Amino acid sequence: MLIIKLDAIPSTNSYLRMLSSEKRLKDYTVVQTTNQTEGRGQRGTSWYSEPGKNLALSVFKDVSGISLKQSFLISIVTSLAVLRCLKTFGIPKLKIKWPNDILAENKKICGILIENVIQQHQYKGSIIGIGLNVNQITFNNLPQASSLKSITGRNFNFDELTNGILKELKKGFKNLEKGKIDDLKLDYEEHLFRINKPSTFKDAEGNMFSGYIKNVSDSGALQVLLEDGIVRAFDLKALTLMY
Ligand code: BTN
Repeated sequence: MLIIKLDAIPSTNSYLRMLSSEKRLKDYTVVQTTNQTEGRGQRGTSWYSEPGKNLALSVFKDVSGISLKQSFLISIVTSLAVLRCLKTFGIPKLKIKWPNDILAENKKICGILIENVIQQHQYKGSIIGIGLNVNQITFNNLPQASSLKSITGRNFNFDELTNGILKELKKGFKNLEKGKIDDLKLDYEEHLFRINKPSTFKDAEGNMFSGYIKNVSDSGALQVLLEDGIVRAFDLKALTLMY
């Protein structure tokens, strides 16, 4: 396993993508920094992090064996890997907010951005980007954000966290390769934030509505029971879960 540690880098995902365009990468090639200056988030947002305080990690994984229809399983494996690792560090009240934010005490401590790459015109790979708030304690204008230190009052070692996440990621992909899909999905749904609770959503046009999260399909669509009794599936672009 190769871990490339960089003092500062615009985006670990972009760096790993650049490497993947130059040569065929081995599974679990990792780029890590604690000073990511132009981090990218989901839906074209940016991911800001105080220099030296947080972990930005990107991991390459060949996913040729996973069909496009089941590509959300990569998200499930990743969010569970972060969650299980953080559990071993004693972080309480961990949840996964659809599709793959990690919350502790109802606040976001980790964001995940998974991007696809094609290697050598043939091998399908995923760049799994993980941004974990570790030792930062002020989050101006982001009342819903938190960090490991905000929750526990202590500082964490970045390398220990990286190793812990990689260990769980490997275990998760092994389970996926063994076909333990139902177990993974069950574990994901057990940790899903607001499952079966009255929730408020915003659609792509900005309209708010209420419903109950029932489950998530293999492709990642959120199944919501609406007030008229109908269950509708929403994909990532169509919906934001507010609370
Ligand atoms: C989100 O919640 O919007 C996803 C944030 C993902 C941030 C991580 S940090 C490591 C990797 N490199 C990036 O540029 N983004 C991801």
